Amino acid sequence: MSAEFSKKKLFIETLGCAMNVRDSEHIIAELDDEYETTNQIGEADLILINTCSVRERPVHKLFSEVGGFEKVKKPGAKIGVCGCTASHLGSDVFKRAPYVDFVLGARNVSKIKTAVKTPKFVSVDINHDESEYAFGEFRTSPYKSYVNIMIGCDKKCTYCIVPHTRGDELSIPKDIILNEIKKATNNGAKEIFLLGQNVNNYGKRFSSSNGQKIDFSDLLNLISQIDGVERIRFTSPHPLHMDDKFLREFSLNPKICKSMHMPLQSGSTAILKAMKRGYTKEWFLDRASKLRALCPDVSISTDIIVGFPGESEADFEDTMDVLEKVRFEQVFSFKYSTRPLTPAATMPNQIDDSIAGARLTRLQSRHNEILDEIVASKIGQIYDVYFEELRADGMIAGRTDNNFLVQAKGSEELLGKFAKVQITQPRRMVLNGQII
Ligand code: SAH
Ligand code: SF4
Ligand code: F3S
Repeated sequence: MSAEFSKKKLFIETLGCAMNVRDSEHIIAELDDEYETTNQIGEADLILINTCSVRERPVHKLFSEVGGFEKVKKPGAKIGVCGCTASHLGSDVFKRAPYVDFVLGARNVSKIKTAVKTPKFVSVDINHDESEYAFGEFRTSPYKSYVNIMIGCDKKCTYCIVPHTRGDELSIPKDIILNEIKKATNNGAKEIFLLGQNVNNYGKRFSSSNGQKIDFSDLLNLISQIDGVERIRFTSPHPLHMDDKFLREFSLNPKICKSMHMPLQSGSTAILKAMKRGYTKEWFLDRASKLRALCPDVSISTDIIVGFPGESEADFEDTMDVLEKVRFEQVFSFKYSTRPLTPAATMPNQIDDSIAGARLTRLQSRHNEILDEIVASKIGQIYDVYFEELRADGMIAGRTDNNFLVQAKGSEELLGKFAKVQITQPRRMVLNGQII
C-alpha cells in the first residue's frame, strides 16, 4: 500500500541554549505526522523560530529574523514564534510582527499541533507541566543525545529572566529519564547529555508521586549502568550544590566525562549576594580546588557576567582573581544585560556600558593568555576522541573526555566511534592532531 502522501515542509531556527535545541527536537517529533524538516526557507509551509531571552541581543535577533522570514516565505506559509522570548512577550509579539501566526512559550511545546492549527494561538503558561509528557522521538545527532532531567528553575538569580520564561523547577521522574536513555542508546548514541538549569539539584520536587526521591549523584550512577552509555555529560550544575558526594561521584565514575561547568557569574562575594547566587568567592574556590585535586584531568568551564549593578573595580578584581586561581579551560563571558521582570533591572548603580565593555575586554584577553598556555601544554598528548562531525577537506572532529574539540584527517567511517589522537598543533578553538 503506497499512500500518495507527501509531507509538508518545516523550517526551524533554534537560538539559545541546549534546552532550546532539545525543545526543537520535541517540536519536530510532535509534528512528524504532517511535516518534514527543510533547510530551504522558501519552500517551507511552516517557519518556526525557537527564541532565547537571556540577554537583550537575542531578543532583537528574533524580530530581525521574523521580518526576514516574512519577506522570503512562500504564500500561505505560517510563522510561529516559540521559546523563551515567546514566554515573556506573549501576544505582544503580534504588535511588533503582525504577520506572526502563533506564539508558543517554552514549557508549552506539547501544544505545538494545536498552535499550528489555531489562528493567532498564544500559549505562554509557565505553570504548564510537561515534566511527564511523552514526546515523540526525534534526534538531530545519532551520536549524542540530549536528555532533559528537569524543567524550569527555582533559583531566581536577580539578573536572570529564565525563571519567568520556564517557570518553577520540576524534576522528571527517573524511570522516564532512564527509558529515554535506553531508547537513545538502542539507536546507537554512546554519549548522553543531561539537561537542566540546576542539574545537581535534581530530585527536590516532582509533580506527581511517580517521582522517587533520588539525588543527582544517584541518578548519574544509575545512568552509568545502562548498557551502551559510554559517556555522560550534563549542564548546568550550580556551584552551590557541588557537595562532596557529587564531586566524588563525578571524579570516580569513569563514564562521567571529566568536564565540569562551574558558572561563577562573579568573583565578588558582595556581588554574588546581590545576584542571590547563594555561595561566596571562598566556597567557589574551595569547590574548584577540591575538584582539581580529585580529578587532575578535569577541565572547568564557566559563565561570567561583568558590569552587574553596583560592581566596583574591587569587585571586578575579585573576578579576575578567581580567573587567575582556577585557570578555567573555557570562559563564556557577558556584559550584564538588563532584563524585564528581574530585580536587578531596578537596582541603583547600573554600570556604564563603556566600563562594562572595558572590563569584558580585560577579562577575555587575560583568559585568552591563560588558554594559550593551557593548549600549548597539550602538544604530543594522546586523547580518546569520540568523532561526531565530518568537516571540509577530509577532516573529522570530535571531543576528548574533558571536552576539548579535536580535529584530524579521517573519514565518515569514524563517525560515532572512538579513536586515539595525538595532538600536533593545538589552537585555542581546536586541537589539531593525528589518529594513531
Ligand atoms: N542555569 C544556568 C544559567 C543559564 S543562563 C546557571 O545558573 O548557570 C546562561 C548564562 O547566561 C548564565 O550563566 C549567565 O552567565 C548569563 N546570563 C543570564 N542572565 C544574564 C543577564 N541578564 N545579562 C548577562 N548575562 C546573563
Ligand atoms: Fe537563571 Fe540563576 Fe536559574 Fe541559572 S540558576 S537559570 S542563572 S535563575
Ligand atoms: Fe535557554 Fe535562552 Fe531560554 S539560554 S533557557 S533559551 S532564555
